[in-house]
Amino acid sequence: MESFGNDVQATLDAAESGEAPNSQYMEVTWQSYWNDSLLSLSIRVLGWTSDLIDYAVYHYDFETGQRPDNLGLLDRFHVDEGDFIAALRRGAARQFDSHYAPWGTGGLSPEDENYGGIAIDLAALRAWTVAEENFSLDLAMFCPNGVGPFPAFQPVASIAGGSGWYYEPVLVEPGPGDWADGGPQSEDAFVSAWLTDDGVSVSFSKSQSRDFPDSETYRRAYGFAYDTEYPVAGCYGDYQDIFVSASGQDFCPYVFLLTTDGTVEYIDIFGGLWHGCLCSGGPLYGFRDIVGFESGVYEDGFGGGYETVYAVDKNGRKYDMPACITAQGNAMPSYAAGKWCANVYHSVASGASYEGVYYLSIHENGLVEINDVIVSIDAPLQIAGYCTYLGTTELGMVYQFGLYSGDQLREGTFALDLYNTDYGEMTITPISGVNLFDAPGGGYGFRFFDVDGRTIEISADVATRAHRRIEEREAIPVRLSHVVLNSPDLNRTRDWYERHLGFRLSDTLSSHRVGEVMHFMRISDQHHSMALAKGPHTSLHHISFEMRGLDEYMRGSGRVLRAGHRKIWGPGRHMAGDNTFTYFLDPHGNTVEYTTELELLDEDTWHPHVYDFSEPEVSDQWGTANPMNELVAKESFNDPDRGCFVAPPV
Ligand SMILES: [Fe+2]
Repeated sequence: MESFGNDVQATLDAAESGEAPNSQYMEVTWQSYWNDSLLSLSIRVLGWTSDLIDYAVYHYDFETGQRPDNLGLLDRFHVDEGDFIAALRRGAARQFDSHYAPWGTGGLSPEDENYGGIAIDLAALRAWTVAEENFSLDLAMFCPNGVGPFPAFQPVASIAGGSGWYYEPVLVEPGPGDWADGGPQSEDAFVSAWLTDDGVSVSFSKSQSRDFPDSETYRRAYGFAYDTEYPVAGCYGDYQDIFVSASGQDFCPYVFLLTTDGTVEYIDIFGGLWHGCLCSGGPLYGFRDIVGFESGVYEDGFGGGYETVYAVDKNGRKYDMPACITAQGNAMPSYAAGKWCANVYHSVASGASYEGVYYLSIHENGLVEINDVIVSIDAPLQIAGYCTYLGTTELGMVYQFGLYSGDQLREGTFALDLYNTDYGEMTITPISGVNLFDAPGGGYGFRFFDVDGRTIEISADVATRAHRRIEEREAIPVRLSHVVLNSPDLNRTRDWYERHLGFRLSDTLSSHRVGEVMHFMRISDQHHSMALAKGPHTSLHHISFEMRGLDEYMRGSGRVLRAGHRKIWGPGRHMAGDNTFTYFLDPHGNTVEYTTELELLDEDTWHPHVYDFSEPEVSDQWGTANPMNELVAKESFNDPDRGCFVAPPV
């Protein structure tokens, strides 16, 4: 009553004396709710000069004489705070969707030419409606209503009005939804999805190897696990049915959800999984009176066609859903389009942070350009490319991006949160992949030339790339093991690396005929991270990739052989370092090695050996490799390095 009491009294006084009301309110109404000794009032006021509607709530316990706060109210009705906020968010989304999902703006049709732009603007308003900052128990206004749902009043975004949002009545139903005991489900090939207690879940099963699509191919590409439940974020609707179907030339499965209002929501399964945020794209605007879904072929009118999925309305009309998803996905909200100045705080692993200032240009067709205001010498940030809308969660609109910096592709996902303020503000939250505003990998670094003119870069705090777990026997290298460099003056190069970079000698290969040919150098207890080879010129000898154990080393070697690449030497096990080896030529003529079980040594007691490599067991303990001869050795001389004393671009 503190909020409105004086105005109400003034209005009543004015009405009684026949004067014009001096209140700013035209109409005040209220609703009362009794729960034993607790009285809750919701008060609705209609503005005098505009159509602005405002709400307030008031609670009073006649037994205790206390006014309980929101937390006290939830405790009294045994409702968990998290459950309440989740239900409040669902209520707000459903209120927004009840206005816009069937009609869009002005009777939007899926066949309209400007469908994508209108749909993405509505998606942005909906994202604001469910955004994190609009939901807290302190801000919430609600009235307990016995054992039933809670009537509440919550900001809901609107296309009309100056503020861009209005308080609206929202029904809050905390606790399990309709499908707590199992809901409708649907599947296509190895993908299945079902309605759950509070939304949707997806899972994958292993298909027979000869089936199309083959589940293994897609598991490797998208990194999912079999028979694991993946819950989908951002499912706020009241759903009655679910349909899984793929579209396009590749197998690209979507979930389609039919709401109790006859509207449609969609989920891009692989798009979401691959980009680390499996979430609902929200309503397909302008789809109304839908009664079901069906798969079909979209005829392009030129004799071609592609797999697609239709929503069917009550009159039997069909609408191509993937076409609408693509149109919407490739657009940027008009609220976000324009030029922005971004202040970005970068934190690095050591706990320090620095601030970067960037110009950000966002175009309505999804093109995004980012430029450093002060272009730094080490990492000039000039990147551009396209962003695609994936869905909405409480973090905002989830976009995947593929942006180019020079010829380097940077991929990832962020959430875009557009605040509806006079000044215009947005928050970008990185979700996966590279950070949009960081140089590749981030961190610090500097470069210099070694004694032979190789460019050496020292770096720190570089990000670890997001990666999936490698399955047992998958035979994919797990890291770089070592590099071997050709040098025309072996001991000058060795001396330089020992003196300036702290390398230590582990072992040497030598023979009476040609003298020293290779020094194995370490910077840790790993037998060698680098080796120096006697060569006719400065060049790369080989790079070696570490496999996870003997089985995966052999499987990997076999895979490269079967792919038709030329094996130079191996398989075998060296004496120096005790590691296994198989050497191949890459398409550019560089030598690459698969290795495993490289020796870890005790640095306190280690004394370097000089091995005579003319004894066969020094090079090849097992005796399984083809004999080493001059022709084999020459492959590793490589071409002279044309980059000596020329730094490559950063
Ligand atoms: Fe090697």
